[in-house]
Amino acid sequence: MAAKSLNGVPEACGMLRNLYGKPRDSMHFEASFLRAMPRKLLALVFPLLLFGCQKAEKISAPKDALILGFSQIGAESAWRIRNTQSVQEAAEQAGIQLIFANAEQKQENQIKAIRSFIAYQVDVIAFVPIVVSGWDNVLQEARKAGIPVLVTDRKIDADESLYAGFIGTDSEKEGREAAFFLLDKFAGSKAGYPIRIAEFSGTVGSSVADGRAKGFRDIIEKEPGFEIFYSESGDFMRSKGYELMRRLLEDRPRIDVLFSHNDSMTLGAMDAMREAGLRPGKDIVIITIDAQQKAIDALKAGEVNCVIECNPNQGPLIMDIAKQLAVGGQAPRFIHVDEAIFREEDDLSALPPRGY
Ligand code: AHR
Repeated sequence: MAAKSLNGVPEACGMLRNLYGKPRDSMHFEASFLRAMPRKLLALVFPLLLFGCQKAEKISAPKDALILGFSQIGAESAWRIRNTQSVQEAAEQAGIQLIFANAEQKQENQIKAIRSFIAYQVDVIAFVPIVVSGWDNVLQEARKAGIPVLVTDRKIDADESLYAGFIGTDSEKEGREAAFFLLDKFAGSKAGYPIRIAEFSGTVGSSVADGRAKGFRDIIEKEPGFEIFYSESGDFMRSKGYELMRRLLEDRPRIDVLFSHNDSMTLGAMDAMREAGLRPGKDIVIITIDAQQKAIDALKAGEVNCVIECNPNQGPLIMDIAKQLAVGGQAPRFIHVDEAIFREEDDLSALPPRGY
C-alpha cells in the first residue's frame, strides 16, 4: 500500500521512516546516539532516557514490531488504572511494542516523554493530555520528525493539523446526561425552593472537567428551580473528594444533590457524608461518572442514584488506529467510545463485572 501524506509529512516518510529514514539534520545528539543502537537494546535503555522523573516500561513484542510510545497521566483513579491495563493488554495482543511512560500527574513529564519518543523515533506516539493547553510546541516537533500523534481519552486545544486524531470519551454528553437525570428525578417536586447542587469537578484545565461542567450547565441552567451553589475541584482523587465534602459539611449547608465528575471523588465524599450522619443517595442525591464496580455496587445498594459510564477500554481502538498511522494511513478525526447510563430504577442484576 502506498504511504499517504499525513499532517503535511511527505510520502517519502512512509512506514520505514522511523526505522531508518530520518534526515540527519532533524536529529539532535541524543537521537543520533539512539539511532546507532539496535532497537531491541534501545527499548531496554529507554526508561533511563526519561530523565529519571517518571517510570517507563517496555512491553515485549515480536522483533521489528511497530513501536508505540504512550504517555499516560498517572494512576489517580481506578478508572485510570483500567485505562492503562486496556492499552497494555491491547498492545500485547496486537503485537505492538509499547513504550509506556507514567507522567505522575505532571504535564512537563508528558512533554519530556513525548520528546524522548521523538528522539527514539518510535513509529507512532499516543498520549492522554492531562490538560487542554500547552501542547503546540511538542506536537510541532513530532510533526517535524514525521511521527504521527494520536490524542486519547482527553482533548486538546491545539490546531487539528498538529495531530492525527482523537479517540476518547464525550465529556459534554456525560455532563448533559447527569443533568437529564436530575430533571427526571425532580420533575414536579421542586416547587417552592431551588434544588441545591454541589459539584465536585475534575482536574482544573482538563478537557473532561471542562466538558462535564459545560454539558451539565447547558441543560441545568435553562431550568428554573436548580442552583449550583458550590463547585470545587477534587482533582479526580478519592482523598480530595473526602476532604471537599468534609469541609463543605462543616457549615451544615443544605445539599440536595452531589454531582461528582468521577467515582473516586464520590466514594471519598460518601465516607464524609456517613461520618456526618448523612445517608448517601437518600439525604443527598448522588450522580457520579465513570461506572467503576464500587459505584455500581453503591447504586445497587441505593447509596448512589445515577452512574454515567466513562469507558476506559480504549486500548483496542488505539492499536487499530496506530497500525493505520504507521503505514501512512489517516485516523478518523474524532472517535467517541460507547458509554452507558445506569439509573437507580434500572435492573442491573445481569450487568457483568466492570473490571475496574
Ligand atoms: O479522563 C477521564 C477521567 O480521568 C475519569 O473520569 C477519571 O476517573 C480519570 O481519572
